[in-house]
Amino acid sequence: MLIVANWKAYVEDLKKAKKLVAVGKRLVHTVKHTIVLAPPAPLLGVFAANNKSRKVAFAAQDVSATTGGARTGEAIASAYRAAGASYAIIGHSERRAAGDTDEVISEKLSRACAQDLIPILCVGEKERDGEGRYLSFVREELTAALSGLTPKERARVIVAYEPLWAIGKTAEAAIGEGDLTEMVLYIRKVLAELLPGKSSARSLVLYGGSVEPANIRDLAGSSGVDGFLIGHASVDPEIFSLLVKQLA
Ligand code: PGA
Repeated sequence: MLIVANWKAYVEDLKKAKKLVAVGKRLVHTVKHTIVLAPPAPLLGVFAANNKSRKVAFAAQDVSATTGGARTGEAIASAYRAAGASYAIIGHSERRAAGDTDEVISEKLSRACAQDLIPILCVGEKERDGEGRYLSFVREELTAALSGLTPKERARVIVAYEPLWAIGKTAEAAIGEGDLTEMVLYIRKVLAELLPGKSSARSLVLYGGSVEPANIRDLAGSSGVDGFLIGHASVDPEIFSLLVKQLA
């Protein structure tokens, strides 16, 4: 499985970051999973460049939609690549809330692909309704994001399904196993339409939104997900270890 630790802006000092990186590196010796750490940009710069591990990788939490130049403050994909990142989270709901439109997300995906960063595209509805409108919402997000990419680039994108109503809460508020199974199937169906040939069979689909030690095993069970995008539970070393070990 692929476990992505989205540190968001929770980690502010080197001491804590160092501890979390060490925990990740220790964990990959005991479990079969790949761990991807997504620290705030300056901290990624400190740790990713010297990373020798093949099972711990680093992700940008976002990349600039620009290609560089006179753009003060922009963190461009090539700089992340140079700093040692190999993945990039794109379209997280917190970035969408800060103004990223479908168009901007599509640009960011292109920027990441051009630098060989593997994009982790976040999609997810704000709320559930009885008529299944959340399904067409997710379909539209996926279609808008992927339409600007070449077939080859589309095939590299990892999709993280993150329903907004489940983010930043507790295990009880997260999605249930049955609903997750349905959503993973649905996303695979949409990907099969958007990707060439049979390439979507290899696409990874992750779930994110209040994944904690109490629910990760059930969610992994038979839902068909390929991994998780974990926020608050990824920045406490003990909770994160517990969580990863639940999947062992
Ligand atoms: P959470 O965040 O695990 O704190 O719900 C997940 C995310 O927003 O990526």
